[in-house]
Amino acid sequence: MSTSQQSPAAAFWDAHYGRHPQVWSGRPNAVLVDETADLPPGTALDLGCGEGADAIWLARRGWHVTAVDVSRTALDRGDRLAEAGVDKLVDWQLHDLADTFPTGAYNLVTAQYLHAPIDLPRDRILRAAAAAVAPAGTLLLAGHASSPPRAPHPEPQGAFPDPAETARTIGLHDRDWLLVTCELRERPTTDPSGEPATVSDSIIKARRR
Ligand SMILES: C[S@@+](CC[C@H](N)C(=O)[O-])C[C@H]1O[C@@H](n2cnc3c(N)ncnc32)[C@H](O)[C@@H]1O
Repeated sequence: MSTSQQSPAAAFWDAHYGRHPQVWSGRPNAVLVDETADLPPGTALDLGCGEGADAIWLARRGWHVTAVDVSRTALDRGDRLAEAGVDKLVDWQLHDLADTFPTGAYNLVTAQYLHAPIDLPRDRILRAAAAAVAPAGTLLLAGHASSPPRAPHPEPQGAFPDPAETARTIGLHDRDWLLVTCELRERPTTDPSGEPATVSDSIIKARRR
């Protein structure tokens, strides 16, 4: 896709990733590690995968991962980082999730910090995420519930979503879901000067019956 055909989201995130050789730590998100380590590997969908650390961590554990982002720059970094063997387990797919969504049903659907400082129909995307969970599969959503203190990450737009409100909005109180976790959780991090800091995350984990 040429730059002139890019959606506003693609243009924003490609420019953001292009300004830094590496934006994220390269480590998988703690929430993903904590909440999925005991799941048997199967098929996974990672929405807004960024530079791919979560997708690669899952693939190393035997998951077949579809890793989706709106930024080609970010996806290319994940593809380059995935070592031999693991690379065959990750299908990197370019989607503006406001417009298109991967096909299929997955044993795990994860969206870690799918936020943006520009328009993002987050609830609609998370409803599609829930619909993509296979029977007996898991939906795992982690979001910011306080401002991340580490530059250079862009601030999410609008108020931080409340996990209970999100769970209700995307239908996780329906009888075909078991809502396992729906809470705010504190996480240690560091601020731009390297000082310890604490941030708050919104965590939703649900299992389709
Ligand atoms: C805050 S980052 C989180 C990245 C990664 N999940 C992580 O935790 O390191 C949000 C990611 O969502 C992606 N994203 C934002 N809007 C998107 C959209 N409309 N469609 C697909 N991906 C999008 C961005 O490119 C970015 O990589």
